[in-house]
Amino acid sequence: MKLVFATNNQNKVKEVQSLLPSHITILSLKDIGCDEDVPETQPTIEGNAIQKAQYIKKHYGYDCFADDTGLEVKSLNGEPGVFSARYAGTQRNADDNMNKLLHNLKDKKDRSAHFKTVIALILNGKQHTFTGICEGTIIKEKRGEQGFGYDPIFVAEGFTETFAEISLEEKNRVSHRGKAVQKLIHFLSTKN
Ligand code: IMP
Repeated sequence: MKLVFATNNQNKVKEVQSLLPSHITILSLKDIGCDEDVPETQPTIEGNAIQKAQYIKKHYGYDCFADDTGLEVKSLNGEPGVFSARYAGTQRNADDNMNKLLHNLKDKKDRSAHFKTVIALILNGKQHTFTGICEGTIIKEKRGEQGFGYDPIFVAEGFTETFAEISLEEKNRVSHRGKAVQKLIHFLSTKN
C-alpha cells in the first residue's frame, strides 16, 4: 500500500516509515512531485489536518495523511492554538513566539497548557482522525537547547525538565505527536 504523508519534513517521513509494517510505503510530497504550499487556512488544528489530507487526495489522487499541531494555553483561552507557528508574526520565529507567550502570561496564575496534534487520514474513501495530547506547564524562562518551537518553555506532566532538556526518544514517548502517530500506526497495522 502506498500512502502519502503530506509533509516536507523528511525526518517525520522516516520516523513513521520505520514504525510501519513493510507492505505500507510512505511517500513524501517531494516523492509525488508536489512542491506547492499545501493550503492550511482553517480555524482549527483538526480542520487544517483534514484540509491538507483532502487537498492531496483531490489534486494528486493518493490516499494520504497529514498532521497539524498547536500549543493551547488554558488562561489564554487556547491561544496560540492554530496560530502557534506564526504567533508573533509571519517570520515564524520560535524565539519571538516564546517571548510573546511569556509576556502574555506575565500576570497569569494558571500556566497550564497542552500540545495537541491531529493526524487526518484519507484511506479507501474514508476519513479518520487521530489525536494526541500532552499536558504540561509553561515555565517563566527558557531552558534547554534541544527540540524546536516552544520546547524550551514547556514542561510535560511528570517531568521537571523542559522538552528542550530531554532526548528526542524520551520526548517521542510522551509527546502529543508521538501519541497521535502511535494511534495512526496501530490503525494502519490492521490494514492490508
Ligand atoms: P506543525 O503543525 O507541526 O508545523 O506545528 C505548528 C507549530 O507548533 C510549530 O511551528 C511550533 O511552533 C509548534 N510545535 C509543534 N510541535 C511542537 C513541539 O513538539 N514542540 C514545540 N513546539 C511545537
